[in-house]
Amino acid sequence: MTQKTSKDPLIERTLVLVKPDGVERQISGEIITRIERTGLKIVGLKMTWMTKDFAKKHYKAHVTKAFYKSLEDFMISGPVFALCVEGISAIELVRKIVGATEPKSAAAGTIRGDYSHHSYAYADKKGIAIKNLIHASGDKNDAEYEVPLWFNDSELFEYKSVHEKHTL
Ligand code: CDP
Ligand code: MG
Repeated sequence: MTQKTSKDPLIERTLVLVKPDGVERQISGEIITRIERTGLKIVGLKMTWMTKDFAKKHYKAHVTKAFYKSLEDFMISGPVFALCVEGISAIELVRKIVGATEPKSAAAGTIRGDYSHHSYAYADKKGIAIKNLIHASGDKNDAEYEVPLWFNDSELFEYKSVHEKHTL
């Protein structure tokens, strides 16, 4: 499946999830603001509660890994916000804003570094997933799989943001 984007290949669409910990901590707005204020544009947004089957599709690269069971338990423990974010090199930019997977190691200034503090050592000892607030497509291949998995074409919108006057 291909995703619908601008003709310019540098303008990308990427999938972002505010995970159940972010929703339950009621910081979804702050997390989304971090992304929005860069000028990246939200072109799709929904709240949903993942099923086990859907989690296996979303995390198909991880289903055979030791941490998968705890990751699935975490991801289906509450609702998530799903966003499709569009902009220049959006996939890499969102990953930069999100920060490293382990909150303990994530740089200050990133979403994970500023809003969470879990470690691999603690999560593994407890047999739980790393609570790191947010998912973002890892690369172009992931984004091209994940965006159509989460959003139909009719749920994605084309409109002009004010930033486009200055950046495009
Ligand atoms: O989310 P990200 O792409 O940064 O990391 P990942 O390696 O694709 O792993 C997906 C998610 O699985 C992470 O965000 C963690 O929530 C969880 N995970 C975990 O709980 N324990 C690990 N050892 C690795 C990942
Ligand atoms: Mg990943």
